[in-house]
Amino acid sequence: MGKRMGFLVLAAGKGTRMHSDRPKVLQEVLGKPILGYALNALQAVPREVLWVVIGHGAEDVIKAFSDMQAQFVRQEQQLGTGHAVSLSWPQVQESGIDFLCVVNGDTPHVPLTDVAKLAEICTKENAALGFLTIHLENPKGYGRVVRDAAGRVAGIVEEKDFDPATHGGEIHEVNSGVYVFDVARCSPFIDRLTCDNAQQEFYLTQMVALCAQAGLPVVAQLNKEEGRLLGINSPQDLVDYEEWLREKIVRELIESGVIIRNASAVIIGPDAHVEPGAEIVGPCEVYGRSVITRGTRVESHCYLRNATLSSCQVKSFSHIESAEVRSGASVGPFARLRPGTVVGSGARIGNFVEVKNAVLHPGAKAGHLSYLGDSEIGPDANIGAGTITCNYDGRNKHRTQIGARAFIGSNTALVAPVSVGAEALVGAGSVVTKDVPDKMLCVARGRQVNMDRKTGKSEK
Ligand code: UD1
Ligand code: CA
Repeated sequence: MGKRMGFLVLAAGKGTRMHSDRPKVLQEVLGKPILGYALNALQAVPREVLWVVIGHGAEDVIKAFSDMQAQFVRQEQQLGTGHAVSLSWPQVQESGIDFLCVVNGDTPHVPLTDVAKLAEICTKENAALGFLTIHLENPKGYGRVVRDAAGRVAGIVEEKDFDPATHGGEIHEVNSGVYVFDVARCSPFIDRLTCDNAQQEFYLTQMVALCAQAGLPVVAQLNKEEGRLLGINSPQDLVDYEEWLREKIVRELIESGVIIRNASAVIIGPDAHVEPGAEIVGPCEVYGRSVITRGTRVESHCYLRNATLSSCQVKSFSHIESAEVRSGASVGPFARLRPGTVVGSGARIGNFVEVKNAVLHPGAKAGHLSYLGDSEIGPDANIGAGTITCNYDGRNKHRTQIGARAFIGSNTALVAPVSVGAEALVGAGSVVTKDVPDKMLCVARGRQVNMDRKTGKSEK
């Protein structure tokens, strides 16, 4: 029978080196929290259990990942990576898994194939634990892998405890923070972790020395991933990793058939889907689960998050979030589409138009300077410049309904809840507070009076 593996992600640390109040694992890489990368990767693998150790900013972390299938373990005081694992150990034992794979939550890349191989090697070599290592020209900041004269792994020495004089010169093999533990064989050692080190923390890495000293084999498997397998500790690490991943995603999209102009200034997140035949001009940002289909052109200076763009035009300086633009439609320049907006096929949103939670049916147009919130705009309706839906009365939001082919004159205020019927015409400058039936003309403004300037007499 195959061995059963569970996963544990360490995500409780504060991330002091990041100089931010936000929990480090919630810092974003290409618009996605660091921890999201590991959790997404682990949702996809067959596994017995997934534990996530949280502590600093625990509530925020749970909120951010409430849709994940994972068990959260609380580490109220962050006394070190060893402490985090020992806290979880009773649950690990109870679950009956054979292997526990531990990864650092500050590392976006989880090398699942290498983890599977590592577990195989551990089984073959009867090892108590195995971990992945990396060769670094400059190993500063990471745990060094110390070997004995025969080349067997003797321990991992953390940066702050490492002294080339006592450890026999600089060591370029470092611990990546990806481990596979044989649960039964490691159990006796978990409680023996100590904190007599430079940081006075319980290091998970001490398990290596504890097992080695007890004569149990330990596997250190050199990995070719270079620095990409290492955690993000500082702003510099974060921007370096982000730039590496950004360049990779953009390059792969161009190779697949997407035209990306000014590519070095285009940011596309890992969960965005851009079809061959789409075109994007930088600078531009595309985050979340955005979808950009073939035939869509996104001009420069646009910000998209969870946007669905189907063979349409998005002109420069547009900001689109959780909104959909359908085929043949055109948006911008300088448009803002907020969550819940659907711009139907052939519809047009022009400059300085903000749309929120509104559906524009096919062919509807709002060309200039408008706010359309909580609305439904019928097919081929025309919204004049400066039209505002007054959707908020200070307490509640109300809807505005505009019928097919209705024409709303410029500078109209539609005081919701209100409806304008199909083919109705609203005169410019109206303040519409009552429903307008189909095909009617509505004029809701003061009548113009021209008076003599001296006598005040009206002209006839
Ligand atoms: C760790 C390793 C180091 C390795 C490096 C690779 C230890 C002691 N050192 O160092 O050998 O080279 O990763 O990137 O493990 N965390 C908790 N609870 C705690 C402390 C930390 O959950 O009490 C979490 C953090 O949120 C983080 C992860 O554990 O995601 C690693 O902690 P971090 O402080 O970043 O360890 P490094 O110094 O990077
Ligand atoms: Ca780290």
